[in-house]
Amino acid sequence: MHYSELGLVNTNNMLSTALKKGYAVPAFNFYNMETLQAILEASRITNSPIILAVSESALKYMTDDILIGMISGAQYKIGKIALHLDHGHSVEICKHAIDMGFSSVMFDGSALPLEKNIELSKKVTQYAHKFDVSVETELGVLHGIEDKNTKSDYSSYTNPDIVKDFVKETKTDSLAIAIGTAHGAYKRQTDSAKLRFDILQKIAQNIPHTPLVLHGASSIPNQFVSKINKFGGNIQHAKGIPTNQLRKAIMGHITKINVDSDSRLAFTSAVREQLYKNKKSFDPRDFLQIAKESITANCVNEIRTIMKSGN
Ligand code: G3H
Ligand code: 13P
Ligand code: ZN
Repeated sequence: MHYSELGLVNTNNMLSTALKKGYAVPAFNFYNMETLQAILEASRITNSPIILAVSESALKYMTDDILIGMISGAQYKIGKIALHLDHGHSVEICKHAIDMGFSSVMFDGSALPLEKNIELSKKVTQYAHKFDVSVETELGVLHGIEDKNTKSDYSSYTNPDIVKDFVKETKTDSLAIAIGTAHGAYKRQTDSAKLRFDILQKIAQNIPHTPLVLHGASSIPNQFVSKINKFGGNIQHAKGIPTNQLRKAIMGHITKINVDSDSRLAFTSAVREQLYKNKKSFDPRDFLQIAKESITANCVNEIRTIMKSGN
């Protein structure tokens, strides 16, 4: 199925507008009906464009048919919603997502030798562009757990000297870069650790027209971590990217901000609190409704205070 039949758009217009106007488009990950509904509700409230991000493992979890069924039944198709494969690790999975109805794919060849990354990224853009699907690629490796298929224990910043040729060769529509963010809830070693704005600046100078993507951009709000710990959880030393650094990155050319961990924390903290407080309830809708509202409120807040992509 082509994505236009699902009322979706690719990310090209939304990102080029964001680049021109100096804000960022949020990419929020989802993996079930509740997380999808919660994110769409945030988009409706703020009138913000939204990139619905699905990792390979999330796709496996939801299954192709259920995912497409949910997307085609979603209410808020206002022409500003993209369905994006997050961290596609093979040409095949990217092609599969495009054939299913995704309007955008990320080919993540960041762990490959440069030549191989270029070769495979090119294959993905050649296929995707035939269907007007947008493509994100990656240069540089983030610290932490990228997803269940990509684990890296080191961080190698994006080399600004190679981005221009990479973009030219691959014809990628946007580029994910490594400037010190990390996936998951354990990002910075110290409170003073800063993103490498010097590297960002050089990259932006070298490819001023290419939207830049920041993965691992959750701010890990302390309220969620505290609530999880208060109601029976045990999450220690969690640290996110401070909001002011995310703002600085957006002012410095970042046009897509990826957030997954914050939504997971928003969801889990609400579930823990509800289950703890309502010991007699056993209708999952009681806590799932509150969990959805918790994600929506956090997404709305981040759209308003960090991405500034909506009202
Ligand atoms: O960057 C990766 C996302 O947070 C997805 O993670 O594979 O656990 O769904 P996941
Ligand atoms: P976080 O773990 O910081 O939410 O990053 C999510 C991400 O980069 C998804 O691609
Ligand atoms: Zn990511």
